[in-house]
Amino acid sequence: MDKERVDLPLNEIPASWYNVLADLPKPLPPPLHPGTGQPLGAADLAPIFPMALIEQEMSPERWIPIPAEVRDLYKIWRPTPLVRATRLEKALKTSCRIYFKNESVSPAGSHKLNTALAQAYYSKLAGVRRLCTETGAGQWGSALAFACQVFGLECTIYMVKSSYHQKPYRRSLMHIWGGKVYASPSRHTKAGRAVLAADPKSPGSLGIAISEAVEDAATHDDAKYSLGSVLNHVILHQSVIGLETKRQLELIGERPDVLIGCVGGGSNFGGFSLPFLPDKLGRPGLRLIAVEPSACPSLTKGLYAYDYGDTAKLTPLVKMYTLGHTFVPEGIHAGGLRYHGTAPIVAQLTKLGFIEAKAYTQNAVFEGALQFTRTEGFIPAPETSHAIRAAIDEARKDDGKCIVFNYSGHGHFDMSAYDDHLAGKLEDYEHPEEKIAEALKHLPKVD
Ligand SMILES: Cc1ncc(COP(=O)(O)O)c(C=O)c1O
Repeated sequence: MDKERVDLPLNEIPASWYNVLADLPKPLPPPLHPGTGQPLGAADLAPIFPMALIEQEMSPERWIPIPAEVRDLYKIWRPTPLVRATRLEKALKTSCRIYFKNESVSPAGSHKLNTALAQAYYSKLAGVRRLCTETGAGQWGSALAFACQVFGLECTIYMVKSSYHQKPYRRSLMHIWGGKVYASPSRHTKAGRAVLAADPKSPGSLGIAISEAVEDAATHDDAKYSLGSVLNHVILHQSVIGLETKRQLELIGERPDVLIGCVGGGSNFGGFSLPFLPDKLGRPGLRLIAVEPSACPSLTKGLYAYDYGDTAKLTPLVKMYTLGHTFVPEGIHAGGLRYHGTAPIVAQLTKLGFIEAKAYTQNAVFEGALQFTRTEGFIPAPETSHAIRAAIDEARKDDGKCIVFNYSGHGHFDMSAYDDHLAGKLEDYEHPEEKIAEALKHLPKVD
C-alpha cells in the first residue's frame, strides 16, 4: 500500500458517527437555563433546535447511524485523503512522519459541511423553513448556505462585521448558494441594535453574531438556529474526520503519536482527534494538541467556568474555558478562531489533562503556512495554519514520531491576509491579562 496518500473507497464513508460522550472519563456538567440557572431539559432547547439534534446533543449512545441522505451527500467529497507531507518533512530535515487529513476538498472548502448537511437535513425533516446562523470567517456561513440550498431551506447569516469586509468572496459564496447575509452587529435584531447603540463602530464578534441569529430564530416560528461548532452534536457530526483518519492510518500500519488541530469552538479538533480518545485512555503517550491564537486564548488563558455562549446572554450557560461573553477580539485574520468560549467536551478533556493547548501569534502562524504551501502546494486557511505551525514545531523535535494534523480548510479567500503577511503588515497581538481579568468579572455566578 502506498504510504504517501491514502484514499478510501466511497463505501468506507463511516456508516455511523462516533459519540465521544459515551467514553468521557467524567460526565459533562449539565448546560443551564440562562434565566433560571437550572439544568436544561430538551423542551428548553426546542424553540431554537430541531428535536433530532437536541436528542443527539444529549445522547449516551456511542454510535449514531448517519442517515442515508446525508451519507449520499458526503459522497460529493468524502472520504477525504490522508496525505503524507514528505516534502515538508524533507525541508524540516526531520525524522518524524507528518500526515494531514485534507478536509479542504469539500465544496465550501472546509470541514464545516460535515455538520451543515446533517443539520439542514434534520431541520428539513422537522418542517423548518429557514435556518439562522452566525459566521466568523465565512467558512461556516458558506457551508450552511450550500446545505440549505441542497435541502430547499432559506438561510440567514449574521457575519462578523470585520470579516464581512475582510472576506468579500466568502460573502459571494453565501450569495451564490442563496444565503442572505447581514454584517453583524446589524440593525436587523434587538441584540444588534443594542451593540450599535453602545458602540456604532463595533467590529462585531462571534458572541454578538450568535445573539443576533438566536434572537432571529427564537422570534420566528418557521425558523431555527444552527451552530457550526461548540455543541456536542456538531462534534458528533465531525467525527467522520477522525474515523476515516483512523482507518487510513491502520491501512498503512501507522500508529499516531501526536494529533493536532486548531480550535475556534472546537469542532474540527474534536471531530478529528476524539475518535482516538479510547486509544488515548489506553495509551497515555498519545498526545492531543489543540491550537489557538494568542489573540483569543480561551484554552490557554481563559477560565474553566459556566458562561453564556453569546454576548446578549440568550444561549444556555455551559461549562467551558471562556474569556468572558463580553470579549471582543482583535481583528486577526483567523476569523473562525475568534470565539470567547470552547466546546464543553474539549474544555473538560483539557481540564482533565487529556488535551494539551498551545497558542501562537499570527505571524508565527503565517510563517508556518508559507513553509507548508511552499513545500506541499496547498494554501491553508489562517485557522488551519495554527495546526500546521504546531505540527512543524513538533516535527522539529526530530524524535521519529508520527504526527497527524487536521487540514481543516483552504485559504483561497484569504489572500489579503497572505499579502499583508508578505508585506510585513500583520500585527502580532497577545490578548492582555488585564482585559481577560476584566471580562471574567462579568461571568454569571453559578458555581
Ligand atoms: C478552516 C477553519 N478551520 C477551523 C475553524 C474553527 O472552528 P472549529 O473549532 O469549530 O473547528 C474554522 C471556523 O470558522 C474554519 O473556518
